[in-house]
Amino acid sequence: MMKAAVVGNPVDHSLSPDIHNFWLNEAGLKGVYTKKTVRDENLTDFITSAAKEGFSGLNITVPHKEKALKACDVLSATAKELGAVNLITFKNGIIFGDNTDGQGFIESIKEKLPNISFEKNSFAILGAGGAAKGIIHALHKNSAKKITIINRNYKKAKDLANKYKETAVPFDLKDIKKGLNGASFLINTTTMGMRGGPASINIDFLSFPEILCFTDIVYNPKTTNLMKSATKSGVKVIGGIGMLVNQAVPAFQAFYGEEPRNLDKLYSVLENKMKVIDND
Ligand code: ATR
Repeated sequence: MMKAAVVGNPVDHSLSPDIHNFWLNEAGLKGVYTKKTVRDENLTDFITSAAKEGFSGLNITVPHKEKALKACDVLSATAKELGAVNLITFKNGIIFGDNTDGQGFIESIKEKLPNISFEKNSFAILGAGGAAKGIIHALHKNSAKKITIINRNYKKAKDLANKYKETAVPFDLKDIKKGLNGASFLINTTTMGMRGGPASINIDFLSFPEILCFTDIVYNPKTTNLMKSATKSGVKVIGGIGMLVNQAVPAFQAFYGEEPRNLDKLYSVLENKMKVIDND
């Protein structure tokens, strides 16, 4: 039986099993997809033994994305550039590492805005952590016109912007107004507003009429405070669940050799699950 798992620590709240098991069920496949809590010191052993135990592959989540890369024999160009993997596959005794997070983000935007031209838009990114790295890399690959990176720790924003010198400009979170200037998209990649995470800053979207779309990669809660205030100001809002689903698409294809089906139904299944969590 084809098997795969998501590996993290903690991993209890991962929605990846819901996504893959939904698609397995829709396709009538007899595969399994589980969650594995693995401690840092056991990660490399876990990955190498999973290959021998007949796993098709693994998804890697926080905090293991960087360390898991070191266990791979062959890396995709994206994984190499980001120094992090979220997808590992096993084939003929070789461990392959890839990173599908950033392209998952791009696909989630295209799902809601099919005609979007990345070349014509400027993107303001809140945050400079792992999630920001993947998204900025993908935006750059998709020829984004301009990217501003706004972060509490300015040095991290600066180091990241340095990798995309022609396109990216760093800003301190204190200078957010300058960073938002001219942007048509704002993307929150920080943990601000996440359930159990730090409170969010306030953004008066009405003061930035050029912002047409706000995307929050936080998907729990389903509607963050920033999403609420963007909606109130007439800004189009795209939630974080789409990125999670879209990063899983190439993983499902790699693990089980089939195309994922019924994405609309999957979104309603996940949204219902989030509602239950909201009421907990
Ligand atoms: P991830 O891999 O999910 O991106 P991360 O690498 O820990 O996680 O990055 C978290 C991001 O959220 C960072 O940009 C962080 O800002 P700093 O680099 O300044 O730490 C941002 N962040 C977390 N808590 C924050 C807060 N209270 N205010 C502003 N930014 C915050």
